[in-house]
Amino acid sequence: AIERTFSMIKPDATRRNITGKIVDRLESAGLKVVAQKRILITKAQAEAFYGVHRERPFFGELVETMTSGPVVVQVLEGEGAILKNREVMGATNPAQAAEGTIRKDFAVSIGENSVHGSDAAETAKAEIAFFFSDIEITG
Ligand code: CMP
Repeated sequence: AIERTFSMIKPDATRRNITGKIVDRLESAGLKVVAQKRILITKAQAEAFYGVHRERPFFGELVETMTSGPVVVQVLEGEGAILKNREVMGATNPAQAAEGTIRKDFAVSIGENSVHGSDAAETAKAEIAFFFSDIEITG
């Protein structure tokens, strides 16, 4: 089925000016960018967005990293977009990411892993709604 998923290019990648290289990977995999904006997120937004990780030991570092520079938030659309995006991204830890994935080729570390992508249909819906209103998304 045609799905929509949420994607975020993280500060480590915007800092290194490789957002275009990352978008190319997504588009080459058949994902269409149907909404996109470059923003600075606040500490409160980062804490809310990553709320499920609040009790994890890396939470403070995660919020710090995500607010250290601009991010590019996106809505991606395509056949099986949620799983496809996760395949193109590769494993969370770049040391474990498969050859040819974004994280294998661009990520610096598990914390600075260049991209975030929704892991399931419900999180995709919630994460898209966190950053975008319906009129900002054009298929
Ligand atoms: P992301 O897919 O954005 O979801 C949560 C993020 O926490 C994850 O990618 C990592 O960048 C970051 N993170 C930092 N340390 C860890 C860790 N030890 N385990 C999992 N995620 C971590």
